[in-house]
Amino acid sequence: MSKEFQNKTVFITGAAKGQGRAVALGFAEEGANIIAFDLGEKIAYPAYNRSSNEDLEKLKDDVEKAGGKIVIYAGDVRKGEDVKEAVERGVKEFGGIDILFSNAGIAAYGNSWELTEEQWDAMIEINLRGGWLVSKYVIPHLIEKKKGVIIYNSSIAGLRGMNRMSHYSASKHGLVGLTKSQAIELAPYGIRVVSLHPTGVNTPMNDGLAELEGTTPIEIAERSAGNLLPVPWVETSDIVAAVKYIASEDARYMTGNQFVLDAGLLTR
Ligand SMILES: NC(=O)c1ccc[n+]([C@@H]2O[C@H](COP(=O)([O-])OP(=O)(O)OC[C@H]3O[C@@H](n4cnc5c(N)ncnc54)[C@H](O)[C@@H]3O)[C@@H](O)[C@H]2O)c1
Repeated sequence: MSKEFQNKTVFITGAAKGQGRAVALGFAEEGANIIAFDLGEKIAYPAYNRSSNEDLEKLKDDVEKAGGKIVIYAGDVRKGEDVKEAVERGVKEFGGIDILFSNAGIAAYGNSWELTEEQWDAMIEINLRGGWLVSKYVIPHLIEKKKGVIIYNSSIAGLRGMNRMSHYSASKHGLVGLTKSQAIELAPYGIRVVSLHPTGVNTPMNDGLAELEGTTPIEIAERSAGNLLPVPWVETSDIVAAVKYIASEDARYMTGNQFVLDAGLLTR
């Protein structure tokens, strides 16, 4: 274990489940402080989303059992007042923020012409506007330190089209524009901004999509065209390794770029 992240503070959205939870535990193991933000209750769309206060409490227990420090906040990335309060609470507890893993997201299927306005808006508001809104309140604290790293969890869908996922793909492409523009704005302050583009990841999101589509999680992973390497998906531990690397000093000249973790999918 390096001492690189010891006493650093990491703000993570979508922290109660899947990749966010794994990244929270991964940084806590390195001695970092965690500010974990996630929904406290179920939202209407998509129907599978079941993260709850209990998931956040469980994360808190697990981080504390591992000897880490954590502030949890149940809120919605669509709501500025929630995000602002979570940032203020975390900064009060830990004295600042060093790394933002902007990861909260939803996914769902539907032909573009059959989506309702509400479905389109929810996708963009959570995946894209939510990413921007969290950064809006975190960035002043990074500027204060003249240092920091922002990582947006996009997807391979942020770099290519996806059948029956136009709203998802549009939201994830939007994060690339946000990443590149903020990299330009924030470079003078020593702050780096990178988007992460995983292929399918073995998380509750795939279970939820499978449930909605009446199929299996493996079939959901295969629908994204298939990886070049013979694996249906990558694991959350692969995401943890990638996020730690991007956030580390080893990646100090990486900014404005797209970090692809796709098991070769985009090359296929
Ligand atoms: N699972 C995959 O195959 C995959 C692949 C590439 C990218 N991604 C992206 O990775 C990110 C993490 O997904 P995951 O696989 O861990 O899925 P997940 O469903 O397990 O976790 C996502 C978390 O985001 C939270 N969330 C959703 N809407 C929110 C809101 N409005 N406010 C606050 N929190 C909210 C959920 O409650 C959940 O805990 C997402 O942005 C997703 O689009 C997922």
